[in-house]
Amino acid sequence: MARHLITSALPYINGVKHLGNLVGSMLPSDVHARYLRAAGHEVLLICATDEHGTPAELAALESGQDVATFCTEQYEVQRDLGERFGLSWDWFGRTSRPQNHVLTNHFARRLRAEGFCEIRSTDQVYSVLDGRFLPDRYVVGTCPNCGYERARGDQCEQCGKQLDPTELVDPRSAVSGSTELEIRTSNHVFLQQSLLADRIRAWVDTKDTWPQQTRSIAYKWLDEGLADRGITRDLDWGIPVDPADFPEVEGKVWYVWFDAPIGYLASTREWADATADDPQAAFDRWWRVDRGAHDVTYTQFMGKDNVPFHTLSFPATILGSGEDWKLVDRLKSFNWLTYYGGKFSTSDHRGVFMSDALDLLPADYWRWYLMANAPESDDASFTWELFGSAVNKDLVGTLGNLVNRTVTQVTRHFGEQVPEGGEPGEPEYELAQRVDERVTEYLDHLDGLEFRKATAALRALWAEGNGYLEEREPWRTVKVDRDRTACTLRTALGLVAGITGASEPFLPATARALRGVFPAVDWQQLVLDRDLARVELVRAGDPIAPPGLLFQKLAPEQLTEWEQRFGGPEGSPQ
Ligand code: 2FM
Ligand code: ZN
Repeated sequence: MARHLITSALPYINGVKHLGNLVGSMLPSDVHARYLRAAGHEVLLICATDEHGTPAELAALESGQDVATFCTEQYEVQRDLGERFGLSWDWFGRTSRPQNHVLTNHFARRLRAEGFCEIRSTDQVYSVLDGRFLPDRYVVGTCPNCGYERARGDQCEQCGKQLDPTELVDPRSAVSGSTELEIRTSNHVFLQQSLLADRIRAWVDTKDTWPQQTRSIAYKWLDEGLADRGITRDLDWGIPVDPADFPEVEGKVWYVWFDAPIGYLASTREWADATADDPQAAFDRWWRVDRGAHDVTYTQFMGKDNVPFHTLSFPATILGSGEDWKLVDRLKSFNWLTYYGGKFSTSDHRGVFMSDALDLLPADYWRWYLMANAPESDDASFTWELFGSAVNKDLVGTLGNLVNRTVTQVTRHFGEQVPEGGEPGEPEYELAQRVDERVTEYLDHLDGLEFRKATAALRALWAEGNGYLEEREPWRTVKVDRDRTACTLRTALGLVAGITGASEPFLPATARALRGVFPAVDWQQLVLDRDLARVELVRAGDPIAPPGLLFQKLAPEQLTEWEQRFGGPEGSPQ
């Protein structure tokens, strides 16, 4: 049994997340966690809302609430949606909680003690019309690197370059659009990442199992020279700097991108505080290599825009602390899920958001579609047609069909129990062989964090069941050879039981329903490993309980109606 710490990029608090956010970090982290738990490992799956920064302030302003109230409400909304999507977090915390205040100030203090912090007086953009300093992402302008005209002050979305707002050409306020911007001087803490660049590079060099995309992003920034980074901001909302450590910047808050990844630790600390007798020890056991976390494998999930922060900035915080904290081992990043090739847009109500999705269909439909079409090697585009095909072909036509045909034949001809009689022969051994290969393939892809390939292998496993039924034709043989038919259906039921275990990471609610079919199976004992295909899960005479309809077929008119409601290839919804 191994120990796995898993984190998903922390969703911003500023609104309900869309399906692209879901598939880019939260959902795959859950699939991975469920897989590892089913394989018998000790797992801690951590997520939280990322609550600081201007996006939260502005969203609160828009909703007419003070920011703390807004965040509390939105946190509950996001937690509820996540749970309804079957995200099996061990803890879903908040970066605004006291644990993050303590840890963020702890890291800042350590970084200063180790000589990696410098106070610099900086020129900052002040918007006269808005009456405030404008944080990086609320200054927009032309990117000095690629010429993109709507680059944000923290990062250019087009070329990916991390920016300082003062570098933008023709800057304006994203709050009001005002160009009446002044540069005012203000003291800030800078994290001297340049001093840590060699250590970060040496550490990245050891990560030769990271995907190419991740490594090349990290090396790109290292090769360009890692810039020192301002980690405080002139905002009201955020984690206040501890004036005892940084009297020069009293009254300021830590930059959201400084405190957010520390939120992974802080959320774990929330979990430890809420659940453990000795919270310090429980926390250390996952995060402090020198205090029990030496055997932890730490896997992070995120969208590709988050990669620089997780391969460079956050490691700089960890390495610079001079303490033995756990660093990421495996990093899985995703490309974009687009909506018909364009952006999901909250303001234009374009695309499908987590709350919309659950209003239409249960979570497993979405989980399957999203993971089977995850933007892994490239961007992927959501279309209702693809969604309909994933549901109708895979869930209804393959898995649902297998379960339905098997259970119907059994109950029609043998009653509600596993049929008795007949002996397995060549067709059953051949099926076992093929199933064995599919399961191995499936597990290899799950181990490799290759989710699309894993869903393809799982789909092929379901299809083996249908192929076997078609070859053995129990609906025909029952009239002439009852023993052979009993053996066929017993074999098919065994396969359905195995499939139930194997499908759980992707389809947890369906797996739960299918478990009900086999009340005699000891699911607790079942381990999702290479032996799954060889374990005899059902026995003649065991009771079975028909599950009812597992998935409903989606009619073309239904898909067209949704396409019109949410906006299709033409753009805006009607
Ligand atoms: O990109 C985002 O949505 C960020 N809220 C992710 C933060 S990940 C971590 F650092 F907290
Ligand atoms: Zn650019």
